[in-house]
Amino acid sequence: MRIAVRVNGETRDLTIDPRVTLLDALRERLGLTGTKKGCDRGQCGACTVHVDGRPTLSCLTLAGAVRGEVTTVEGITPSDGLDPVQQAFIDCDGFQCGFCTSGQVMSAVALVRRGEARTDDEIREFMSGNICRCAAYPNIVAAIRQAQEGGV
Ligand code: FES
Ligand code: FES
Repeated sequence: MRIAVRVNGETRDLTIDPRVTLLDALRERLGLTGTKKGCDRGQCGACTVHVDGRPTLSCLTLAGAVRGEVTTVEGITPSDGLDPVQQAFIDCDGFQCGFCTSGQVMSAVALVRRGEARTDDEIREFMSGNICRCAAYPNIVAAIRQAQEGGV
């Protein structure tokens, strides 16, 4: 099938098998490898992107079914620096191996931009779909707090 998908502000034309996930289309066809494939079955959050600003698991989304603007971690990064959430993850050591980080950042950016989750418990609940095998959770919460407070 031929599709036209909006990714990071551009319309991208693709000819794909209807079974191709958004994750595989991003990584294998569009070269946007910032989005990671962890479990490939909706359990880890490593593949989180935004569709119209909503955190979305790209491994559970068929590329041909996407209606709306897709934003990947490459798309939230300004050309002259970092998103405040990315900077906060660095400042607060919000990662170790980094494999989960782009998914964590995408969920965290949605949380901050949408004004969600004002307490640490609410942050943990909002972020509960993003698994970190390195258990950087306390530092991730600290990073989100910093970004919420504009402390960068
Ligand atoms: S790769 Fe999509 S949730 Fe794990
Ligand atoms: S930093 Fe290693 S899995 Fe999260």
